[in-house]
Amino acid sequence: MSVQLREMNEPVVETTPESLESIDLLRFTTAGSVDDGKSTLIGRLLYDTKSIFEDQYAAIERASELRGDETIDLALLTDGLRAEREQKITIDVAYRYFATPKRKFIIADTPGHIQYTRNMVTGASSAEAAIVLIDARKGVLTQSKRHGFLASLLQIPHILVAINKMDLVDFDEDVYERIVEDYTEFAAKLSVHAIDYIPLSALKGDNVVEKSSNMPWYDGQTLLHYLENVNVGANRNMVDFRFPVQYVVRPNQDFRGFAGQVASGRIVPGEEVVVLPSGKRTRVKALHFFKEEIAEAVSGDAAIMTLEDEIDISRGDMIVRTHNLPQKSDKVDAIVCWMSETPLNPDGNYWVQHTTRRVQGYISELNYKIDVDTMHREAAETLQLNEIGRIQLTTARPLFYDRYQLNRATGSFILIDPYSNNTVAAGIIRGKSRRVADLVTGEIDSTEIGIAESDGDTQRSTNVVWEQGDVTRHMREERNGHKAAVLWLTGLSGSGKSTVARLVERRLFDLGFQAQLLDGDNLRHGLNGDLGFSAEARQENIRRTAEVAKLSFTHGNIVLCSFISPFQRDRDFARSLLPPNRFVEIFVQCDLEVCKRRDPKGLYERALRGEIKEFTGVSSPYEAPQHPELRIDSAHNTPEVNAQLIVDYLIAQGIIPRQTG
Ligand code: ADX
Repeated sequence: MSVQLREMNEPVVETTPESLESIDLLRFTTAGSVDDGKSTLIGRLLYDTKSIFEDQYAAIERASELRGDETIDLALLTDGLRAEREQKITIDVAYRYFATPKRKFIIADTPGHIQYTRNMVTGASSAEAAIVLIDARKGVLTQSKRHGFLASLLQIPHILVAINKMDLVDFDEDVYERIVEDYTEFAAKLSVHAIDYIPLSALKGDNVVEKSSNMPWYDGQTLLHYLENVNVGANRNMVDFRFPVQYVVRPNQDFRGFAGQVASGRIVPGEEVVVLPSGKRTRVKALHFFKEEIAEAVSGDAAIMTLEDEIDISRGDMIVRTHNLPQKSDKVDAIVCWMSETPLNPDGNYWVQHTTRRVQGYISELNYKIDVDTMHREAAETLQLNEIGRIQLTTARPLFYDRYQLNRATGSFILIDPYSNNTVAAGIIRGKSRRVADLVTGEIDSTEIGIAESDGDTQRSTNVVWEQGDVTRHMREERNGHKAAVLWLTGLSGSGKSTVARLVERRLFDLGFQAQLLDGDNLRHGLNGDLGFSAEARQENIRRTAEVAKLSFTHGNIVLCSFISPFQRDRDFARSLLPPNRFVEIFVQCDLEVCKRRDPKGLYERALRGEIKEFTGVSSPYEAPQHPELRIDSAHNTPEVNAQLIVDYLIAQGIIPRQTG
């Protein structure tokens, strides 16, 4: 038996056992139109990594020859369909997978002959990286911004700006630098965490797989090196188990299983589950992959589940754990990207395809559209092709969803025109429906682009409902005269985190702002007093702290957190609780040797003598942040200088106002 999977927005793909070794698997999207050289780039990657077969190579060679091309056209590898129509040549186009000894890759979108945003949106909900292609001759265009905006909206963790066609600008460093500068300036308005740039020529192969000798001024990585090494998996939701049922498997009277792909989380046999929407409870009897019984299924895995009890379940139902339920609502607040030539019909009905479930729905409000060039909201009567807008969506039956921020699979949907059966929009769910009438003018605050704003509807435990007070953070921010934020200082023990944090707290206080300090040593006296220093204990330490910081943030404060927080995963968790641009990771850099010499509490000495176990820097690792918002150097700068750097950063980001006088 083979499992045919249909991910929400993707064509049917045959899942192979290899595709399940998800750890060294990178899914990425490539944003760019055919003109930007997208197909050539993918072709080049496939070709140079030797991911194509002899006969396929021969076929494109023949095709190129027939066309009278001098060099072979690598774009034919991905644009096969187009070639087929034009040239009546058949080329296999199933290039969604390729591999190098280091990693496997899935290109999460389809080749360049379909609308680019559609590719991007539909392929992106599980992508870990997006390549935004820019033609070096043209520079940063509206569409390059749109790609970046969408990548940020869709929370693709890594963006790579590939500045292509460098051969056509004589491999000029200035051209590259200018584009980097322009794009960086634009990206500052987005909530993009990690953004990298590579100058390349897909056509000639410079910096794609092989390092270019034409750009000696560039000492960064090649595209393949980037793809092979970019960090994956950190953003995957491994907590909330969601299993949308694809279909019922019934090979004979004795076996009744439910097939699907684990959208998030993890499950093992024996666990208690509840089936939505019926609410019936039972336990997982066994899990299978093809014919083989498996011990667990995790996010991304295809599986067939059997249950202890005979329960009526059909396609579109969702199986979840009893104590971790998704949200339920027939009215949601969403951001959609319109993907059809036919504009949004405010009076129309649409099918809402959400995971494996399809329900009827309509757009009860179109709140505004977003101008990607200026990042302003605009009043709108409708949405045209490629336009992005905020809507309130009403469905005939409730959706069981999570906010996109927490769960990309159960937080996204597509809208389908019931007459043409075409996909007309892709959307992400921000939360329950809400009033947004007063938002229609002004520049977008990236906290509100969509997804990240926590609207308090996260229902983790059963029967616990978030009490939303009448006083909102926005009201508090207005009164305080500054925005709320969490400043997360991370660094080795003795690096001077707390000293700087105290100075910043004092300075903010003197300026009349609301600031609060949470310090590792202090919290470990009370709230976190039961925790030691194992990786798990530190994770819990950071989790609790992050939750407290978030509460304080919700009350309008600028919260300073001073914690070693040695693990990136834990810091990323803290980040995930907050809107983008409101979490500022500050790396307090200081050489281990300097910290040891300072040894303010005499702890290094004791750790080196073996009296303290798992001491960071001595017998426990410290993962330096790769992309902190701010780095401060405490080995060379005074604490006062560093405190000022932080205050300056807050001003530059518009969190606190510039002081006059
Ligand atoms: S964290 O790693 O979990 O973020 P946290 O910042 O809360 O650590 O606490 C670190 C403080 O605990 C250090 O400044 C030090 O005073 C004390 N400490 C005691 N034992 C250890 C240890 N094994 N590793 C690091 N810090 C320790």
